[in-house]
Amino acid sequence: MTDIEQALHFLKSGKLVAIPTETVYGLGADADNPQAVEHVYAAKNRPTYNPLIIHIAKAEAMSNWAINIPAHAWRLAKACWPGPLTLILERHPRVSKMITAQQETVALRIPNHPLTLALLEQFQGGIVAPSANPYGYLSPTTAEHVRAMLGDKVDYILDGGPCSIGIESTIVYLLENQPIIVREGFFSASALSNILNEPVFSKGSAPKTIPKNLQTPGSDHSHYAPTTPLYLLDPTVLKETMKHFAQQGKHYGVLSFGANTELLKNPSTWIQMPPDPTHYAQQLYDCLHKLDNSAIDAIFVESLPHTETWLAIQDRLERAARPLT
Ligand code: TXA
Ligand code: MG
Repeated sequence: MTDIEQALHFLKSGKLVAIPTETVYGLGADADNPQAVEHVYAAKNRPTYNPLIIHIAKAEAMSNWAINIPAHAWRLAKACWPGPLTLILERHPRVSKMITAQQETVALRIPNHPLTLALLEQFQGGIVAPSANPYGYLSPTTAEHVRAMLGDKVDYILDGGPCSIGIESTIVYLLENQPIIVREGFFSASALSNILNEPVFSKGSAPKTIPKNLQTPGSDHSHYAPTTPLYLLDPTVLKETMKHFAQQGKHYGVLSFGANTELLKNPSTWIQMPPDPTHYAQQLYDCLHKLDNSAIDAIFVESLPHTETWLAIQDRLERAARPLT
């Protein structure tokens, strides 16, 4: 049996299969099997009020899971799929409310990874897949991360190598005339508005608001977070804090744009990050997994440039971070 055949076999028998995507690894299950969907929530220890994305093989399959699909959705699907974009649409009555967390919306996406695309095509259904991490923790960008975090809870891991993008998809809410980004990702508001030829807003700056009761990423404040306390600090504060920690005999790891000025001996505790957001995103979770697995008291991350291309990474780090006390 090939890897894909094995993954297929497990999915069809209601088991959990970790799937590679271009963003992060997902914890996959058959969207039409309520017990399998329940297992996804249980394996992640995820509250049932937080809905799941359904992954599909073809844009036309949107109509199997959503109704009243607006023209915007078809245009975005055509331009961005397969790719790191999730569309929030009106739920088709056949979609189990366990997937949508009792809401009348459904989240859909076609991921861009050859193994998972082949799997989806052969599966001929939808695969629900949240990121394959315990709820609230760092997302996985390699099969090894999944094994380390959920190895005993997942029945099969389809190893597709490291994820090429490295952070979760952009999520766009399409139930109003005005599309609203509810989770930042690879596709920025400007990129989506170029495709649609009209303004697309981010959640905070939208003139129209999304329904208050809509469960969106970030409804839970702390997310994407390592166990080791993480602090997001501007360079001056970073320097002082490092000094303070060293004086107290504490150990720390650093994600910095600069070289190792502290001459920390363990190379894994000072990580020089790429200066551009694409490569930074690719490496972010892997670096944080490494630091979280080393014996340190804190992770310091140097603050990022305040431009649109860094927004998705800024969002993840803000949610991972704690205030410096
Ligand atoms: O890149 C990704 O999107 C990855 C890969 C595996 O596809 N998946 C992912 O899933 O990040 P997850 O569950 O970790 O985050 C998806 C977010 C959830 O936090 C949830 O709030 C939101 O999508 N979501 C899912 N269904 C929704 C719905 N029906 N309405 C509003 N938000 C929804
Ligand atoms: Mg997640």
